[in-house]
Amino acid sequence: MLERREPALTADAPFAWIPGAIGRETAAAMDGLLEKTMAPHLSPLSDAIPPESITGQTRNYQERLRKVARLRTAYLERRGKAWAAADRIGLFAMMRSPGFRQFAEAVAGRRLDPKLGVQVLRYAPGDYQGPHTDHHPENPRAKDGYVDVHLSLPSAAVADQFLVYARDGHFSEMVNVAAPGGIAVYRLPFWHYTTPLRAKRGQAAVARRWVILGTFLYAK
Ligand SMILES: [Fe+2]
Repeated sequence: MLERREPALTADAPFAWIPGAIGRETAAAMDGLLEKTMAPHLSPLSDAIPPESITGQTRNYQERLRKVARLRTAYLERRGKAWAAADRIGLFAMMRSPGFRQFAEAVAGRRLDPKLGVQVLRYAPGDYQGPHTDHHPENPRAKDGYVDVHLSLPSAAVADQFLVYARDGHFSEMVNVAAPGGIAVYRLPFWHYTTPLRAKRGQAAVARRWVILGTFLYAK
């Protein structure tokens, strides 16, 4: 993985998708392990479209939509049962290894802080994230940008799920992030959204996409 040298991300090209970065068998094993150990520790994360976004609208073409999403996540910020389960399967050891940071630095083209945040997400059929920027202007360390790295681990029953992002002010770019074992690197903030996960015909019950997410601040 370290030998791979993608072009560094820029404000104009803030997103890199590296398909097949994790071998197919390894990715399937990771999906199985996450399903067994982390699924019991997931909590629903659901922010729906507020009805007032229509009923409270008084002027034409003045609609506003805050970030909406539906998926499940395991909270790993504090030491609890989810944290212990993630630690037991080596999730933090993998994400906080120097090799993983060097990979992220090579793609992002920036030195990154070794103390990254780790999250786990799981999308089921119909789960998605609406348009948002991931801009954190109130956080002094993140306000000038930061880097997210997503390990994408869909089950074989997933048909597709797209990451759509803005280039030159338009949502013109689209990547199927449900290809197995792909790694996505984001130089945030920029506008993006994740389309509803779609299952292959008749396989909705076993369609899911796990995402292991590392958030790197820039090195001081
Ligand atoms: Fe995002």
